[in-house]
Amino acid sequence: MIQRRSIDEVLQATSIEDVIGEYISLKRRGANLLGRCPFHDEKTPSFTVSPAKGIYKCFGCGKAGNSVSFLMEHNHLSFTESIRMLAAKYGITLEEDEKYDTEEYNEQQRKREGLLLALDYATNFFKNQLKSEEGKAVADSYFRERGFSPQTIADFDLGYSPKSWTALTQSATEGRFNLDHFEAAGLIKKREDGTFFDLFRHRVIFPIHDLSGKVIAFGGRQLEKDDRSPKYLNSPETDVYHKSHVLYGIFQAKKEIRLQNQCYLVEGYTDVITLNQSEVKNVVASSGTSLTEGQIRLIKRFTDNVTILYDGDAAGIKASLRGIDLLLEKGLNVRTVSFPEGEDPDSYCKKLGSEDFKKFLTENESDFILFKANLLFDSIGNDPIRKAEAVGELLNSISLIPDGLKRATFARECSKLMDMDEKILLIEINKKRKGKSSTSSQSLPITEEVRSLLDTPTELPEKGSYSGGQEQEKNLVRLLIQSGEKKFMEDATVIDFIINELREDEALQIEHPLYKKIIEEVQHITEQYLADHEINENFFINHTDEEVRKLAADMLTEHYELSPAWAENDLFIKTEKENYVRDLQSLFLFLKKSKLEALIQHNLEELKTIEDNEEKIQECLNYHAELTSVRNSISEILGTVIS
Ligand code: CTP
Ligand code: MN
Repeated sequence: MIQRRSIDEVLQATSIEDVIGEYISLKRRGANLLGRCPFHDEKTPSFTVSPAKGIYKCFGCGKAGNSVSFLMEHNHLSFTESIRMLAAKYGITLEEDEKYDTEEYNEQQRKREGLLLALDYATNFFKNQLKSEEGKAVADSYFRERGFSPQTIADFDLGYSPKSWTALTQSATEGRFNLDHFEAAGLIKKREDGTFFDLFRHRVIFPIHDLSGKVIAFGGRQLEKDDRSPKYLNSPETDVYHKSHVLYGIFQAKKEIRLQNQCYLVEGYTDVITLNQSEVKNVVASSGTSLTEGQIRLIKRFTDNVTILYDGDAAGIKASLRGIDLLLEKGLNVRTVSFPEGEDPDSYCKKLGSEDFKKFLTENESDFILFKANLLFDSIGNDPIRKAEAVGELLNSISLIPDGLKRATFARECSKLMDMDEKILLIEINKKRKGKSSTSSQSLPITEEVRSLLDTPTELPEKGSYSGGQEQEKNLVRLLIQSGEKKFMEDATVIDFIINELREDEALQIEHPLYKKIIEEVQHITEQYLADHEINENFFINHTDEEVRKLAADMLTEHYELSPAWAENDLFIKTEKENYVRDLQSLFLFLKKSKLEALIQHNLEELKTIEDNEEKIQECLNYHAELTSVRNSISEILGTVIS
């Protein structure tokens, strides 16, 4: 187990803008940073990062936490894995209790770490092979022939797998690595007799990086055409490689995509590399497969603008029309560039040279409507039925765009292009949109029955046994988290005050399980701990319990909302951090009042159930008098009139 001391050290060193900035684009907004939430689809950014507090919160989907929570959620890591990742990032050596080591590492963590280790080892192995005699002769020379510079070869970690069945297996064995990890990574394979052999043989190697630059898979290309095996051999899906969420080149391109606010989408490894070398660095590849939602979400973190570069051969074009629709549906602006017959971005870029190629891109960019229209109308001629079908196709695409203004703009363009009435097109588009969401947005027919149900006032549910003051409980915990360490009276802190009040008054039971857990934890913190620790925001923000972290981040970012219980009295219209002294006192009064009211209710219910027991009835009545008397005096202080 990692020692608490080390965890604190890591958390101290961590800057949340650094951590999150690695994955999404953040813009400064006052004291905070704002970006598009990586956890749900959104058009306008509502993902807020507070560098000062070290927390994030999405006002769209509610996700919140600190750097560790982010890594856990975003990279599917455990708490410990996230701490290890941050420690590695900031160069901190972790102190560990050895005896917990084996218990704590679960199978999954070991597997993942093993995979990454094997992938890292293999990357270096393949890179080194490029410098061997054989590598120089066949692979390095191949890259050079294709025009790749030494810098480019280094930037993309390109390598070579020798013409051998055992080169990698042998090297890993000599290095005393566990071969199972290499097998799990799809690098080697076990024979029946238990020995292993290499899967990547005599190929140039294109490592595939994740967003943070770690190698998570490989593509290996044949050096000579050989129909007995595929042109490209690709790593299988593993715990660290989910093909549908990966774009080739994203690590090398992300910065430029953000800067240019545009992303070029190509098909292959070599397209990415050649364009990158020709100063078109905002380019990624879907690696020969059709675009997935996961890949689109990845792009969307950096930009809304995608330009698809299609190969000159028409074969794949029709299939990739679906990719366009998916992009449109996710709210991206889609433009396209087509290349002359027989050329792909790689070959054409080499033909024109960097400057002319860039000029070609800007001059030949067209929006998707024009592209699709040209494609559809190529083969139609004068057939009116096929023309109608084609128009329908175009309108289908337009109807997917979530933004109404953009839909209208494209409808206009389409009407000019097709020489059709714009209004009719808009009506058609709206029909198609309705058709799509018919199940979700159709309203219920208002029958007599529904009408009368709507008109009947809802009766408030009877107060259950002893459950009052939920809102106040929440506000209490909020104060505890926001201002716990602040001085309250003489030398007591807010926390001291809260704990003391709760201890002295039996009626003040915190009922909400999470709040209760927090209060109990704070109650049990020892003097000794407090001697060199403060219980402040960070204590909760960086808590080991995910639930607590989330709550803290929520409460520290939440726009303060007045609950009905607070608004009950004009005195407490506004609550700012600085008002916590007054807040806390009145909060306790409100809390106590609510708890008392619940108790009164509870007691009365009990009274109703007593039959023929004079003594018990009297007891209940006395208790009632006692409770209401305290309740009334509190109400008096609070200035609330009792009805
Ligand atoms: N691809 C693949 N498996 C194949 C063929 C292609 O995974 N058998 C993927 C690769 O990611 C490749 C992309 O599809 O980069 C595009 O294929 P292709 O155009 O054939 O390859 P290029 O990258 O253009 O490679 P080259 O220029 O060397 O032919
Ligand atoms: Mn090519």
